[in-house]
Amino acid sequence: MAALEWSDALSVGIPQSDDEHKKLVEIFNELDEAARTGKGTRIMSDVLARLIDYTVEHFESEEKLMQEADFPALELHIKQHRQLVKKVGRFRQQFHANGRRITKEMLEFLNYWLTNHILVDDMAFGKFVTEGSSATAPAEAEPVG
Ligand SMILES: [Fe+2]
Repeated sequence: MAALEWSDALSVGIPQSDDEHKKLVEIFNELDEAARTGKGTRIMSDVLARLIDYTVEHFESEEKLMQEADFPALELHIKQHRQLVKKVGRFRQQFHANGRRITKEMLEFLNYWLTNHILVDDMAFGKFVTEGSSATAPAEAEPVG
């Protein structure tokens, strides 16, 4: 079984984001599988590089969507993206210093980060886009009831 299963619960309601998240989950699972089955260091290093490259690509496209939509939490979201890219950069250094082995800690962190970021932060953007700006701007929200 894959480490991370895609389900509708992970859908943020924006097809482009969902497609990119699916691909991230897919590459993450490939990395997890490669680590568990003891794949060679060249394969591990290829998959890790693909995960990092695609993550950066995905963040750029997501930030662009957020900018176009005038998403109020854009700054914070960009900060979170930068932090992950930094952390993954450190993982990559560890990986090379470590005889090109992926540690359980790295996989657990990535699994947690991906799920949590999609479910909480990207979901907030999805709601903002699909339900209108009042969904994430309480000050301007219409009175309920
Ligand atoms: Fe994001």
